Amino acid sequence: MPEAVAFQGVTDHSGLHEFSVRETDTFWGTLAHQRLSWISPFNTVQNCDFSQGKIKWFESGKLNVSVNCLDRHVHTYPERVALIWERDEPGTEVKVTYRELLELTCRLGNLLKRQGVGKGDCVTLYLPPCPLAVASMLACARIGAAHNVVFAGFSAGALADRVRDTQSSTVITVNQGVRGGKVIDLKKTVDQAVQNCPSVRQVLVAMRTENTVVMTDRDVPLEEEMMKENVVCDPVAMDSEDVLFLLYTSGSTGKPKGLVHTQAGYLLYASITHRSVFSYQDGDVFGCMADIGWITGHSYSVYGPLCNGGTTVLFESTPVYPDPGRYWETVERLGISHFYGAPTAIRLLLKYGDEWVQKYDRSSLKTLGSVGEPINTEAWDWYHQVVGDGRCPVIDTWWQTETGGICIAPRPSDPDSEIVPGMAMRPFYGIKPTLLDAKGESLPGCESTGALCISLAWPGMARTIHNDHQRFIETYFQPYPGYFFTGDGAHRTKEGYYQIVGRLDDVINVSGHRLGTAELEDVVSLCPAVAESAVIGYSHDIKGEGVGVFVVLKRGVQIDQDVLAQQLREMVSRNIAKYASPDFIQVVRRLPKTRSGKIMRRILRKVVEQKDDLGDLSTLDDSEVVYEVIRGHQKLR
Ligand code: PRX
Repeated sequence: MPEAVAFQGVTDHSGLHEFSVRETDTFWGTLAHQRLSWISPFNTVQNCDFSQGKIKWFESGKLNVSVNCLDRHVHTYPERVALIWERDEPGTEVKVTYRELLELTCRLGNLLKRQGVGKGDCVTLYLPPCPLAVASMLACARIGAAHNVVFAGFSAGALADRVRDTQSSTVITVNQGVRGGKVIDLKKTVDQAVQNCPSVRQVLVAMRTENTVVMTDRDVPLEEEMMKENVVCDPVAMDSEDVLFLLYTSGSTGKPKGLVHTQAGYLLYASITHRSVFSYQDGDVFGCMADIGWITGHSYSVYGPLCNGGTTVLFESTPVYPDPGRYWETVERLGISHFYGAPTAIRLLLKYGDEWVQKYDRSSLKTLGSVGEPINTEAWDWYHQVVGDGRCPVIDTWWQTETGGICIAPRPSDPDSEIVPGMAMRPFYGIKPTLLDAKGESLPGCESTGALCISLAWPGMARTIHNDHQRFIETYFQPYPGYFFTGDGAHRTKEGYYQIVGRLDDVINVSGHRLGTAELEDVVSLCPAVAESAVIGYSHDIKGEGVGVFVVLKRGVQIDQDVLAQQLREMVSRNIAKYASPDFIQVVRRLPKTRSGKIMRRILRKVVEQKDDLGDLSTLDDSEVVYEVIRGHQKLR
């Protein structure tokens, strides 16, 4: 039981949960007072109206997120380790104390100010997980700028899109990244990207390797200039609802959306979920394996643990470098108590066998977490029995970039409550899930399946889509008026536990990363040989979902299938990222369509998954098309 969460003598989960959704303002208002340090207090707890997409928490309050994550801990335990940077090469980890991280953050904050960055600006970070990345995020927070972290596996084109959409004046990167023993030229990618980004005035370049890079007038050597700066940087008093960061994620239409998270509500939600969901205690070492380019890295490598004064691991490598024992060797060497990873990595590792796990001492482990996609029973059992020796609970956490933090998890409060394998189970405090049917009617009682919506606002939820509030309203609040629509389907069991069924929209989940089919189709259609395309996700035993591409060629075009496949893979890697690269490409004469001309992707998915029952084909314009596709797919295999 986390010490802060007990109200009016209520301490059990169902009692607390009931209280949190009934007395929402008392609940969140009390926690915000208790857990955050304010420069000036807030007047209202919440001011939300789903019909307008208006979400505001703790208005008129002022605070600084970096002070909450650093200064207040430096006062009490300056030498406590804040970050353990687990570098690519095993055994070369670097530890950074709270005092050191504050100094780094202040120097960077001062450098950014010297470069003309201030309140209201946006800084794009194109960095692998490292202390400088965390310090850059916190430096932005300190001086009132918003950050926009772009996963350093994204292509120059995807980076440029995000820089342009945010109108960033500044990009922070490293000369090269190092991952899985490979060196990646990140600065080169930034050079290419910023060519088409007139807003960018400067690129701050840190040195991750010793290899020099060409520096232009726009480039600033980060370490050199940072060392000229003072280690004190006054924190700016920020309104609760000022922007803390933007983070892009895929939706069901083409363009990724820049979700906006603000200061107080996000920080409170990230920290309270980190403390409660994982039963995190002082002295524990929290090992979240996600890259800081994703929301998981933001909330559970950076903001949650640091706000709680914890010790957090920044993992630079891969689960299989230098061998499939990497995670567990790291657990032993760093004494990780909480391991938070993705099902795709677990599925990959279990194929290598138990000996890679058993070689290492995992007695420091207390809790195992899972995030990003459903965890199948085989992976859950292996994680629990082999990795956790049957003694560590597996905590399957459901949430999204939009939710800011975990919304459904097995043990939001009581460390002894029952866990059902493969299920996220219980809503967190203040979260009121509702399942709705196709007509928008709320499904009462248990044993029901429907669209997963949330009927009350919570402090961690995204506030808008950058530059497109209308899209925010249309995507999340219009499908089911009065509710926040998650895009996922869920089942409620007879015990009242939630199990996530999967996306209901055209978003696919590849190795825990979201991709829009429309986003991929936009890239495929850039190929001169392609007249039309349909992208689908289909079940894949390691990645969760694989990417399948069906293309119709333009009239008269003759092209070798392998050549076309190579071209399309390159285009996707260049325009989006390598992880989005298609698993197969099938040329078809026609695509299955409804009479009104809509492509029936669900049928294509069933063909690929070799389902006997293809579902209702009656709305198809011409069902013969499906059999053509099946025959073609058999040849492809
Ligand atoms: O479909 C759900 C799936 O991942 C989506 C959110 O993706 P993203 O915003 O990239 O955030 C991922 C990390 C929080 C959800 O809409 N998802 C996430 N966690 C789970 C999950 N599906 C099943 N079980 C989960 N635990």
